Amino acid sequence: MQIFIETQPTPTSDLVIPVVQSDALFDQLAHIEQIRHVPPSVLQRDFAAEVNEVLPIYGPDGQRTHLLGLGPKPQAVDWLRAFRKLFFNQKGKLPNQIGIDLMAFDGTVVEAVVLGVLGGGYDLGLYKTDKTDTATFFGDEGQLTLYVHTDQEQTAQDALIQAQAIAGTQREMLNLMNAPANYKTPQTLADWAVDSGQRHGYNVTILDKTELERQQLGALLSVSQGSDVPPVLIVAEYKPEGNETLRTVGLIGKGVTFDTGGVSIKSSANMHLMKSDMGGAAAVLGTLEAAAKLKLPIHLIGIVPATENSTDGRSTKPGDVITSYSGKTIEIIDTDAEGRVILADGLGYMLRNFQPDVVIDLATLTGSVIAALGYHAAGLFTQNDDLATQLAEAGTRTGERLWRMPLWDDYREDIKSDVADIKNFSGKPIAGSISAAKFLEYFTEDHPAWAHLDIAGMAFADTEFGSQKNATGFGIRLLIDYLKNVV
Ligand code: BES
Ligand code: MN
Ligand code: ZN
Repeated sequence: MQIFIETQPTPTSDLVIPVVQSDALFDQLAHIEQIRHVPPSVLQRDFAAEVNEVLPIYGPDGQRTHLLGLGPKPQAVDWLRAFRKLFFNQKGKLPNQIGIDLMAFDGTVVEAVVLGVLGGGYDLGLYKTDKTDTATFFGDEGQLTLYVHTDQEQTAQDALIQAQAIAGTQREMLNLMNAPANYKTPQTLADWAVDSGQRHGYNVTILDKTELERQQLGALLSVSQGSDVPPVLIVAEYKPEGNETLRTVGLIGKGVTFDTGGVSIKSSANMHLMKSDMGGAAAVLGTLEAAAKLKLPIHLIGIVPATENSTDGRSTKPGDVITSYSGKTIEIIDTDAEGRVILADGLGYMLRNFQPDVVIDLATLTGSVIAALGYHAAGLFTQNDDLATQLAEAGTRTGERLWRMPLWDDYREDIKSDVADIKNFSGKPIAGSISAAKFLEYFTEDHPAWAHLDIAGMAFADTEFGSQKNATGFGIRLLIDYLKNVV
């Protein structure tokens, strides 16, 4: 699809007109009368601009206009959701040329609008053999024109570039997340990263199994040893040229391409959803690519420990004691608490080989965080108040919300081991997301600016795209927003 910004006010094609619910509703509808010749008094009978409300109007030549309600005081994410929903619902009937009238709005809304429209075109049917109902609007023939006020043209252009960059990356991450384990192994993530690095100009190094053994990433290796597919550690580095004083941010993402639970096997009812246990990896890899596309002035290191967690005669068993990359020993109480184990090596590798000013890990780590926060926010764990504020604000701005959870040392008691330095599970059905975070903290070498985001409820969730839970792309917009605001 091609997207154009125009400042001419009278399009002839199908048109979408977003409308904010406010005291000025009548005036907004009067603007519509000028271009679509329906009196405001008539429109106001049928349309109150509620969130996601849609009113179709037909013109004399058959062209369609959709009034799209945004509710009162819409934030960027409300714009995004309204457009995503409209374009997803209309998918089958969209003509190839569509205009959106943004004359009454600030040019910055273009970012959310474009992310919404492109998001609405997402097709979950990756493996369906019949693709005939795919809308041509979302293919090569589609043309979307955004009508903005002349003095908003430049702002709108910038927002368009940003949105297209993020939307393209996000779509690839949705595909990776939604891919099942027979289409996606640790090597698939590695191949994606190498290819992306080549296309967008950042460095990617893959540590294969032999190299992991040589460098003794014992925690990652122990989780992978029950699987036929070998583990990898992906190390990606983006550094814009000619600027030596940049801040360095280290991102680490859990990349479990399938989590059976291992010997502590999961029940089968929802096990198929565990193809999505690499949501942290998707957020990290997507953020690296998007940052490189947008040429953000920041030095980024992305590390993804990637593995399957499978059951086999060679699998790690409960009670086993393993030695992590950092040299610290871990008693494995439950092999289903594998995310924190591979992240121990991810954190260790980051801190021993790079000097990041800030370290953020993202992981679909615990069911417990879903019990606490449901599907409306990710858990945010950090001892650093400034970092907490910056991340939470980025969450509010993007609608990818974070809610801070405690990290008091009292919770550390639960994961003390009698035989090793630490154990990977408290054995208690309480405070599971917090003791997981305390486990990770043990491997941060007292870094003053570390944050952990438990995104188990947010990465894979109910969406308009399907009847089963599917990928949300959570984390990329959040982290890009955070990075743009800290540099
Ligand atoms: N990948 C799961 C966490 C998860 C659960 C993600 C539901 C998304 C949806 C993680 O590896 C896991 O199994 N966690 C266990 C830990 C427990 C055994 C200590 C959990 O949360 O039940
Ligand atoms: Mn698990
Ligand atoms: Zn897991």
